[in-house]
Amino acid sequence: MTTKNIFRNLGKSELRVSMVGLGCWQFSQGKGIIGNYWKFLDDQQIKNIIKTSLDEGINWFDTAEVYGWGASEHAIAKELQELHQLPQNIVMATKWWPLFRTARSISRSIDRRLSTLHPYSIDLYQIHQPFSFSAIPAQMRELANLLDQRKIRYAGVSNFSARRMTRAQEELQKRGYLLVSNQVKYNLLDRKIESNGILETAKQLGITIIAYSPLAQGILSGKFHHNPKLIQDVSLFRKYAGHLGKRFLKKSQSVIEILENLSRKYGVTSSQIALNWLIHFHENTVVVIPGASTPEQARENAQTMYFTLAREDLDLIDQATKQFI
Ligand SMILES: NC(=O)c1ccc[n+]([C@@H]2O[C@H](COP(=O)([O-])OP(=O)(O)OC[C@H]3O[C@@H](n4cnc5c(N)ncnc54)[C@H](OP(=O)(O)O)[C@@H]3O)[C@@H](O)[C@H]2O)c1
Repeated sequence: MTTKNIFRNLGKSELRVSMVGLGCWQFSQGKGIIGNYWKFLDDQQIKNIIKTSLDEGINWFDTAEVYGWGASEHAIAKELQELHQLPQNIVMATKWWPLFRTARSISRSIDRRLSTLHPYSIDLYQIHQPFSFSAIPAQMRELANLLDQRKIRYAGVSNFSARRMTRAQEELQKRGYLLVSNQVKYNLLDRKIESNGILETAKQLGITIIAYSPLAQGILSGKFHHNPKLIQDVSLFRKYAGHLGKRFLKKSQSVIEILENLSRKYGVTSSQIALNWLIHFHENTVVVIPGASTPEQARENAQTMYFTLAREDLDLIDQATKQFI
């Protein structure tokens, strides 16, 4: 490991997060509506992934209430404690699930979130997606109440359009708070945030983009292109929602080849090149939260923080993936 600065401020806050965080949907342990999307990971496997991530310099974890209805949050808190991690050294990001709920459930459910994550606090509390029975102002007023009560440190959103993100920021500002982040899908095979105003607005407002599915759920590693048989082992849900059909693999083939050429040049992997582009192409605006099913993947993904692609290679990748904007 080098002494390179791997930390960034989240939005305009003083909260420092490593450029790579650990996505923890994978720790749902088969529970809840989307808990079977990923293969089941037992407690020991989860501990090994978390330990490797910490060893490689990651200081934050992205989870959600809906990831196994608390199973992921519970597993992270349990394993971090067993690994003797002090709460003040960990940044915890979780999310409220809005579907079929009103904004009032934000304050009604917060104590459950805090007890599930205990002794770790909620540094970033995100609205998971914009569709609840209540409008954005009501949701932001609830987040502001939690900020007043010091139950959460910062407020963020996820899957919010540019307009909704601006609205959320305006509402929080009325109470003296900032919106620090918008967590959205962003990877080299899905660059829509560059054309729908989300990225531009985030830059203007000083809001960090937290890129989810930064490896296009494993596709950017190239493994499914080289060994399509691997697709047989993934859940049906992932096969379809994760773009693992023949057409998309064909469409993305040329991108995989470019990543492989660069991986040889830098002596790293294609996944590391794909993540590196995300964290460097837009200066400080984007951080990434790849998920992992093994400690080896977690190590590989975290190590992208320790090198930087040259400008000409960032631009080469930009040109080669313009069709995905
Ligand atoms: N806010 C939202 O609505 C939202 C939505 C989706 C995700 N998220 C968050 O974002 C995180 C990451 O997104 P994601 O899990 O959808 O996609 P991702 O990070 O692009 O892909 C993760 C999966 O790719 C495979 N993988 C990871 N590293 C690899 C490597 N180095 N080489 C080869 N394969 C590798 C693993 O699956 P296999 O080993 O099984 O192939 C892993 O489970 C989630 O954990 C969650 O915290 C948020």
